[in-house]
Amino acid sequence: MMDEIISEDIEKVKSTVKAKAFAGKKVLVTGGAGFIGSWLCDVLLGFGADVVALDDLSTGRSKNIDHLTKKASFKFVKSDVCAFQSNEKFDFIFHMAGHASPDEYQTHPIETLQTSALGSFGMAELARKNDATLLFASTSEVYGDAEIIPTPESYWGKVNPIGPRSCYDEGKRFAEALLMAYSKQHGLNMRIPRIFNTYGPRLREDGLYGRAMSRFILQALANQPITVYGDGKQTRSFCYITDTITGLMLLTASPKAKCEVVNVGNTQEVTILELAEKVKEATKCKSTIEFNLLPKDDPKRRCPDTAKLEKLVGWKPTMSLKEGLKRTVTWFSQKT
Ligand SMILES: NC(=O)c1ccc[n+]([C@@H]2O[C@H](COP(=O)([O-])OP(=O)(O)OC[C@H]3O[C@@H](n4cnc5c(N)ncnc54)[C@H](O)[C@@H]3O)[C@@H](O)[C@H]2O)c1
Repeated sequence: MMDEIISEDIEKVKSTVKAKAFAGKKVLVTGGAGFIGSWLCDVLLGFGADVVALDDLSTGRSKNIDHLTKKASFKFVKSDVCAFQSNEKFDFIFHMAGHASPDEYQTHPIETLQTSALGSFGMAELARKNDATLLFASTSEVYGDAEIIPTPESYWGKVNPIGPRSCYDEGKRFAEALLMAYSKQHGLNMRIPRIFNTYGPRLREDGLYGRAMSRFILQALANQPITVYGDGKQTRSFCYITDTITGLMLLTASPKAKCEVVNVGNTQEVTILELAEKVKEATKCKSTIEFNLLPKDDPKRRCPDTAKLEKLVGWKPTMSLKEGLKRTVTWFSQKT
């Protein structure tokens, strides 16, 4: 059964995006058992699409999609995206597979690079053969330690190509270059959203460093010390899952977004210390705040310029951090 909070949120997304673009269409969602991928599956099925979710369950969880497996219009395929081949005719491909958390990708740097490079190559070929629209989940991490804040898409980035984060950052940068090449050489109909920190129900709770939101919430709910890395003055911008999903779906459905690279994120920039305080407030916990060493190459600030997304598809985030936190805390507290 789907959680009440998630059901309510999905209805909200459905009222913002027009179902027509996806009704009766065949859609492949790679990383479909993951956080963002499983939300996409829910919304697409709600729109009357036929959905194939592909996932190797390396970081995703079958419990994110268990409630869908009895639906005739849903199929789950457990496979590495790098090895996946299919004769099915897809209209849309949401290519979300990847190792998104720093702990995860730093433990599996080769798999991370393979998924970005070989997985994206396979998805580009599949989309080309099917004449499908391909959306590739890129990331704010392509900007590295950005020198322009808020960061527009025109900024080329400041990335360490051999540092501990490079398997993720450079993998995504390679995939962007690959899809650009496919669009030039083969006319591939693709979109590249650069997703900034997204949070909400189904966010994985583990990850020592990198998923501050879920770690803080769980520590607060257990009244344990909240661990902040560095002095907590580094900033991030947190986008609630329904806003991210709406942005991704509007981009996919809009012909104006063809071959565009577009930031998707919330423009409210907060320090990590402020986030810890907000989590304390939302959970009414008694936790103290502890400080640990900041990992190497950690970006100092993150905040998107979202003017392009707004201009292209009329998108603006609708969920405040306060309300999004409240919903996320409620969801986590029901799970723990
Ligand atoms: N969540 C965010 O804040 C965020 C921000 C920027 C970009 N992204 C990107 O969005 C995508 C989804 O992120 P998420 O937060 O849902 O992460 P997630 O870890 O919850 O989901 C990723 C999914 O991909 C699957 N996967 C990984 N490698 C695979 C492979 N080789 N073959 C098949 N499946 C594979 C995992 O099992 C998982 O289910 C990722 O590509 C990530 O890089 C996420």
